[in-house]
Amino acid sequence: MKLYGKTAVITGSAQGIGKAIAEIFASEGAKIVISDINIESAQQTADAIKTQYAIEAIAVAGNVSKLEDCEVLVKTSLDKFNKIDILINNAGITKDNLVLRMSEAEWDAVIAVNLKGVFNCIKSVSRYMLKRREGRIINIASVVGQMGNAGQINYSASKGGIIAVTKTCAREFASRNILVNAIAPGFIRTAMTDKLTEEQKQAMTSTIPLARLGEVSDIAKASLFLAGDDSAYITGQVLAVNGGMYM
Ligand SMILES: NC(=O)c1ccc[n+]([C@@H]2O[C@H](COP(=O)([O-])OP(=O)(O)OC[C@H]3O[C@@H](n4cnc5c(N)ncnc54)[C@H](O)[C@@H]3O)[C@@H](O)[C@H]2O)c1
Repeated sequence: MKLYGKTAVITGSAQGIGKAIAEIFASEGAKIVISDINIESAQQTADAIKTQYAIEAIAVAGNVSKLEDCEVLVKTSLDKFNKIDILINNAGITKDNLVLRMSEAEWDAVIAVNLKGVFNCIKSVSRYMLKRREGRIINIASVVGQMGNAGQINYSASKGGIIAVTKTCAREFASRNILVNAIAPGFIRTAMTDKLTEEQKQAMTSTIPLARLGEVSDIAKASLFLAGDDSAYITGQVLAVNGGMYM
């Protein structure tokens, strides 16, 4: 088991990519903290994972855009499991619009959750991980943070910001054996991409050399690699899991 005895805190993990990461980590023996703004759904996911993988899992309610919630998340996780080995910053939202039409509220909301949320969680866990001199932090960015995307100025800025945050934290924390990396998914089949029309999905697929959308399991497997011993000499990197759509 690749993560036996480890504890992983995963934000936005009630569903989608975060849930898939929680499941693969649980299958490799990790104890799991499912954190989400939607506590009912988070509790269901935690209960299902506990039953299926016979490991310990808890659900913690929290809005990552609030620093206080992230501090409570870290404290609750430590109270329950005594340690945090892995933090996955996965919670994210979209509020798409063309630049001309985008409201200040749409800009602020996406930056608050996607970018400030990552800062809030890293800040909250950093005191503990720095003292312990060990840890893994994986931030879920996006291909659009690398290449831009019309209609997503707020989202692409947040994801580009996550890449910069990843490199900065990798440099700050390296001497304490805390490895910080990002995953940049391409277009993955989840509730987030279900919002798109068939036409939009087809247009997207035509730009992907592997000619299909990705699955949540594609991102979960990449996360497992970056959380485990096989990536012990990798930090400050952005692992693109995008079917080749951006090289
Ligand atoms: N699906 C894709 O194609 C794709 C591509 C690139 C990157 N991503 C990124 O992957 C991550 C997961 O996306 P997904 O497709 O699974 O989305 P999703 O909408 O299925 O899941 C997101 C989860 O985050 C939770 N959440 C939303 N706001 C929150 C907040 N303020 N605090 C805590 N939790 C919150 C939601 O309740 C939900 O459970 C996001 O960061 C997203 O930007 C997704």
